[in-house]
Amino acid sequence: MTKDNPGFNTLAIHAGAQPDPTTGARATPIYQTTSFVFNDTDHAAALFGLQQFGNIYTRIMNPTQAVLEERIAALEGGTAALAVASGHAAQLLVFHTIMSPGDNFIAANRLYGGSVNQFGHAFKSFDWQVRWADPADPASFEAKIDRRTKAIFIESLANPGGTFVDIAAIAEVARKHELPLIVDNTMATPYLLRPLEHGADIVVHSLTKFIGGHGNSMGGVIVDGGTFDWSKSGKYPLLSEPRPEYAGVVLHQTFGNIAFAIAARVLGLRDFGPAISPFNAFMLVTGSETLPLRMQRHCDNALAVAKWLKTHDKISWVNYAGLEDDPNHALQQRYSPKGAGAVFTFGLKGGYEAGKRFVEGLEMFSHLANIGDTRSLVIHPASTTHRQLTSEQQVAAGAGPDVVRLSVGIEDVSDIIADLEQSLAKL
Ligand SMILES: Cc1ncc(COP(=O)(O)O)c(C=O)c1O
Repeated sequence: MTKDNPGFNTLAIHAGAQPDPTTGARATPIYQTTSFVFNDTDHAAALFGLQQFGNIYTRIMNPTQAVLEERIAALEGGTAALAVASGHAAQLLVFHTIMSPGDNFIAANRLYGGSVNQFGHAFKSFDWQVRWADPADPASFEAKIDRRTKAIFIESLANPGGTFVDIAAIAEVARKHELPLIVDNTMATPYLLRPLEHGADIVVHSLTKFIGGHGNSMGGVIVDGGTFDWSKSGKYPLLSEPRPEYAGVVLHQTFGNIAFAIAARVLGLRDFGPAISPFNAFMLVTGSETLPLRMQRHCDNALAVAKWLKTHDKISWVNYAGLEDDPNHALQQRYSPKGAGAVFTFGLKGGYEAGKRFVEGLEMFSHLANIGDTRSLVIHPASTTHRQLTSEQQVAAGAGPDVVRLSVGIEDVSDIIADLEQSLAKL
């Protein structure tokens, strides 16, 4: 790249990727290998001792994965990134890097249902406690903080509610209490908003969604903002104390503003093992190249669909921040002026049963548990993704009984609306 400060569209295509130095291959090759030959024994020792960067074994690092990591770090404006097998694996490794048994973190109560389960149930086996707060009320986060609190976690644009969060206001609470703010930016993507610019310290993604964009590959990523001081409070020993398995190396001291990404790789990924396959990394790199084009089309289609649904007599409400009279519209304009994303919810007057029948009546929409595909997708959260939550949790998460969630695809918008219309007509 010739310019020092290339634009987002350019970064989406070029960041992290060069023609292959040995073959000249222009597309990023799939390095389908488990391991890499050392130059000599000193080289091997330097790699194992963290004195030199380089490939050892694909559970820890792989050149196809490295392109994906550099690409996403550049798109988010971070210092480094770590790509892993799924969004959930990314979250596990983030919390493993900062939590000790008995610690807690504060999370928004409007989150993807799988994250509510991971935090509320699975994390208990590590003795990590989650405390829920209202993302529309930054003071509710502050009220839950105590001396064992290690982090704050929010989604920039909440799934499935489709609401934007005042990231800067919650970042201020985090900064006041010297806690890192972790933001799941899956639904917005860095095309719409970049949480690090609003005070976040770590960004996570399910790459499975809009960044991959074609519904064909799982992946997750952790982006290190490089701004948080992991040594100051003494609360993050994995980063601030000597590591016995690396001859006493202190990761924050040695790696500075990329220490978090290094720690998540050499302690978390190395030991828990949720590595991304080189093939999936290749698919996600390919998907990322068209992210700006796809995301704008997703947003434009979603706005047209939301406007149309709003006028329909079988619909009681539409919750899309892109609509001018939506209570979340001002935050959307402030944080994400290019659009309000592709995923939103609406309520059917007929409630739970109508929700199920409506989904069954659709022909082009696919009924499945994913978002961010090129195709238009639909789900009835209360009977599927959010069924394990209590009814209070369902309502808090924006997934009550009458709620239908759409992930509007990039087909012709007239065909999307025609499909919705024919299914509504059958109710
Ligand atoms: C906002 C959000 N975060 C995280 C995840 C988890 O990602 P994955 O399914 O890749 O583990 C999802 C999955 O739907 C999601 O929507």
